Amino acid sequence: MAKYNVVFVLGGPGAGKGTQCEKIVKHFGFVHLSAGDLLREERQRPGSQYGEEIETHIRNGTIVPVQITCSLLRRAMEESGKNNFLIDGFPRNKDNLDGWNKAMTGVAGVRLVLFFNCSEEVCISRCLSRGEAGSGRSDDNIQSLTKRIQTYHNSTMPIIDHYRGLNLVREIHGEKSPDEVFEDVKQVFAELKL
Ligand code: C5P
Ligand code: MG
Repeated sequence: MAKYNVVFVLGGPGAGKGTQCEKIVKHFGFVHLSAGDLLREERQRPGSQYGEEIETHIRNGTIVPVQITCSLLRRAMEESGKNNFLIDGFPRNKDNLDGWNKAMTGVAGVRLVLFFNCSEEVCISRCLSRGEAGSGRSDDNIQSLTKRIQTYHNSTMPIIDHYRGLNLVREIHGEKSPDEVFEDVKQVFAELKL
């Protein structure tokens, strides 16, 4: 048996991944790892050799090479001392998926994929509001968002379809209020026996 249990959390930018993960952590005691947050942290780390490369990808809404992202995830998992993880915003494309499978097969088992489905309009308007409210993110602007949405459709949807084929996807409508969405999330976690 793999040492770690993983639930991947996917959905477009602004679909509510981070918001719902915070609630899941409180109710179900998972460790939440956001691939985007880990990349932003690495970008800020003085002396990081990846800082510029990461920033370029983030602004362009493109995906950082998996070697970087998967190492950050793996290190965070090991350092946590815990076993059950919500990994948010990963795997985002085929490179992410292949790199994960290569490095983590036998180490971590993917138990479910939570997919927050949310229209493009709602996603864009949430991220723009987040930017206006001072998120400080260099990609919460319409130029970056247009590219992020494109990446989501072209590169992330095929990954969701891949996991659908493995019967691991639980799709949740993400347009209601955070508390209403969480009611649906709870039902998914109720079936999860770890
Ligand atoms: O998930 P989040 O919206 O925080 O991701 C922000 C950006 O971080 C993405 O648009 C992408 O440029 C980068 N990212 C990545 N690979 C991931 C997750 C995020 O390159 N697996
Ligand atoms: Mg997030």
